[in-house]
Amino acid sequence: MYCVTLTTEGARGRAWHDRIAGTVAADAELARHTTYRVGGPAKYLVIPAGPDDVREVFGSGERVFVMGAGSNILASDRGFDGIVLKIAHQMSYLSIEEDEVIVGAGRPLPSLVRSCADAGLGGLEWAVSIPGTVGGAVCTNAGAYGAAMWDCVRYVDLVTAAGELRRFGRDDVERGYRRVRFDVRKPFAVTEVGLGLTAAPQTAIEALVESFKARRQDNQPVGAASAGCVFKNPPQGPGAGELIDKTGLKGLRRGGAIVSYLHANFIVNEGGATAADIYGLITDVRARVKEKHNVDLELELELVGEFGDA
Ligand code: EPU
Repeated sequence: MYCVTLTTEGARGRAWHDRIAGTVAADAELARHTTYRVGGPAKYLVIPAGPDDVREVFGSGERVFVMGAGSNILASDRGFDGIVLKIAHQMSYLSIEEDEVIVGAGRPLPSLVRSCADAGLGGLEWAVSIPGTVGGAVCTNAGAYGAAMWDCVRYVDLVTAAGELRRFGRDDVERGYRRVRFDVRKPFAVTEVGLGLTAAPQTAIEALVESFKARRQDNQPVGAASAGCVFKNPPQGPGAGELIDKTGLKGLRRGGAIVSYLHANFIVNEGGATAADIYGLITDVRARVKEKHNVDLELELELVGEFGDA
């Protein structure tokens, strides 16, 4: 990874990367930016300081992939031939007024939950151990323990590929289980989220936070290199974890990647796994569940870059 120097001149006399107020790196190893700790080089990795940087990236003419904490993606060993736009710490401001929370999309969920608990606001306790960002959570409708992100979203601001800043109220957005559809073509980048939470006694909030942490510790490989659940739960019948477990696949291995013994819907990089190992294991698991249970598992995590022979 190295810092970019000017190589091409943009329409306004300077290259797009010279107009970025945040940080720009070329040939950035995605393995350093994903919780799986795999992924080859992105042509550029940009951590924007705000919406203006996002516009510059979209106006660059390069392909763009938008990510948050990199906790729900599998990035190819071949990397990404374009710009990975990482909405992170530089866009993680927070303001709390009564029950309204306004938060930059780059804020990590655990940190948001902590601040809300300190302010006596409940409703997000379930998210305390989710290693993603607020922006990632609103784009995937992340959830756990019967709750989901959009339960408390009031609005989402995003920058479109055309550089427009648009606000979507909760009624403007179609959503469901791990699914959100903004009426705008990809790529776009969520920059800010408004949430409506509920005042609650701090002791009650803390108790909930601790109980969610403990539950997760019991049946998920917390702290291991993973991207959380690999597959969505099918609309009917047993969940993906149960199906994979019943197919006898816990402990199935490819290189440094293994189907977790703790929760079968997690694949863990035990060290030295490649994206191809993980992708191979995903393909195996899907085929074996299909063979045994006739269920087509749908990916919950997102693939970045090229996989297989493509
Ligand atoms: N189960 C098994 N074997 C396993 C795992 C689970 O038999 O290896 C069984 C459990 O015993 C239980 C049932 O499957 O009866 C459901 O398991 P669990 O409570 O762990 O919930 P899940 O449906 O597997 C979902 C989310 C998780 C979230 C948990 C907690 C999905 C795909 N997964 O898992 O989200 O943390 O509920 O609410 O919706 C994620 O989004 O990355 C994620 C991990």
